[in-house]
Amino acid sequence: MPSETLTIVDNRIGKTYEVPIENGTVRAMDLRKIRTSSEDFGLMAYDPGFMNTAACKSRITFIDGEKGILRYRGYPIEQLAEKSSFLEVAYLLYFGELPTQSQLDEFNNIVLSHTLIHEQTKKFIDGFRHDAHPMGMFLSTVAALSTFYKEGKNIFDAQNRLVQFERMVAKMPTIAAFCFRHSIGMPFVYPDGDLSYPANFLSMMYKGTQLRYKPHPVLERALDVLFILHVDHEQNCSTTTMRGIGSSHCDPFTALAGAAAALYGPLHGGANEAVLRMLMEIGSKDRIPEFIKRVKAGDGARLMGFGHRVYKNYDPRARIIKQVAAEVLEVTGRSPLLDMALEMERIALEDDYFVSRKLYPNVDFYSGIIYQAMGFPVDMFPVLFAIPRTPGWLSQWEEQILDPEQRIVRPRQVYLGSEVRDYVPMAGRVDPATVDAAAPQAV
Ligand code: ACO
Repeated sequence: MPSETLTIVDNRIGKTYEVPIENGTVRAMDLRKIRTSSEDFGLMAYDPGFMNTAACKSRITFIDGEKGILRYRGYPIEQLAEKSSFLEVAYLLYFGELPTQSQLDEFNNIVLSHTLIHEQTKKFIDGFRHDAHPMGMFLSTVAALSTFYKEGKNIFDAQNRLVQFERMVAKMPTIAAFCFRHSIGMPFVYPDGDLSYPANFLSMMYKGTQLRYKPHPVLERALDVLFILHVDHEQNCSTTTMRGIGSSHCDPFTALAGAAAALYGPLHGGANEAVLRMLMEIGSKDRIPEFIKRVKAGDGARLMGFGHRVYKNYDPRARIIKQVAAEVLEVTGRSPLLDMALEMERIALEDDYFVSRKLYPNVDFYSGIIYQAMGFPVDMFPVLFAIPRTPGWLSQWEEQILDPEQRIVRPRQVYLGSEVRDYVPMAGRVDPATVDAAAPQAV
């Protein structure tokens, strides 16, 4: 028995158990031994939303939500955002160490060589209606890649996994930009190998008739920083989906499509879209107090971009993004939405409702304002999240594949439905909705 243990007394039968504590956790399977009789299934942990359940051991991302700390592979997010590039961070996440210059150059070249997508993929995107949501097109196209790269199924081949990682880091911006161009009826723009990762993406998004598209360096860097901030966030909803689908040993494209689908929702990657819509609906600074009142009254409105399952302090990414927003708007021109967001934050952080619940701005509160200032339509916001999250999802998947403790994900349930009952023939069935409650009942 290890030195750290937990003693549990089952008051139902007065039996005592001692279970080991490892890394601040007890194994849920140890609870199974706690039984009232030999027929008893054993005790389970009930944890909807996985509020207090660690499903894996990970060495990728560290978060201290109380202190507002985020680190990738031990490096503080603030240092990476200031000094690094997105591709460097993608490399760090997957390989565990920062690359040397020659390693980074090589990685850069490999990623560049994968940026084109199969011509057939274009036809696939063309098949969507002109008004299809870009995220729907995006995640369907990612899933479709599994039909192009069938070798992706060889998930126990390390070299094969690496190729899919490089391929997907490279192709996500191309797919994203093609989905956008399709939605506005513009011809696709092919990748430009002389541009940086973020500049190439902006070129594929916005290039018109000019021979070469070169974004403003402040906007290019801002996008790179935003990408760095979104690379990984440990076991969030979409990463858990990636691991959940990955646990069935399917190919990484299919798992990535599922992860992107989880990211789509307004409580996760769709939140910055929701922030912008919220600000536009409020319309002006003087109407903010009235909106805050509605949020506090709990009549369905939430202050989008506020609150986080893990951060009970200022989200460190939000702090960096707030600064980036100011720099971008210096270039693109001041936005009334930023003024409203700043005022909203000021009011909320002085209000006991938000303070007592530890609700602070999260990564999504300011990111939408930057994206809008850079010309991205609101529908593209979740796609902009999925591009940089790709190395995070794939690094987590890699870790899962190599972890001998991992099994196919299969939670338990607490069954509260009907006891066994006999099949009722059609003629004997009654629709409860049609039974007249007022009708006299037989006694
Ligand atoms: N506005 C108003 N009240 C809130 C908010 C909010 N944004 N977030 C939480 N609360 C309140 C809840 O009503 C609850 O109050 P109560 O105790 O009086 O019932 C309390 O704070 C705790 O909230 P929960 O919903 O239990 O917190 P949970 O950890 O389940 O949810 C979540 C976290 C989903 C992020 C939530 O804060 C939220 O909906 N925020 C807005 C959406 C958002 O910005 N999502 C992006 C998250 S970051 C990301 O995914 C990249």
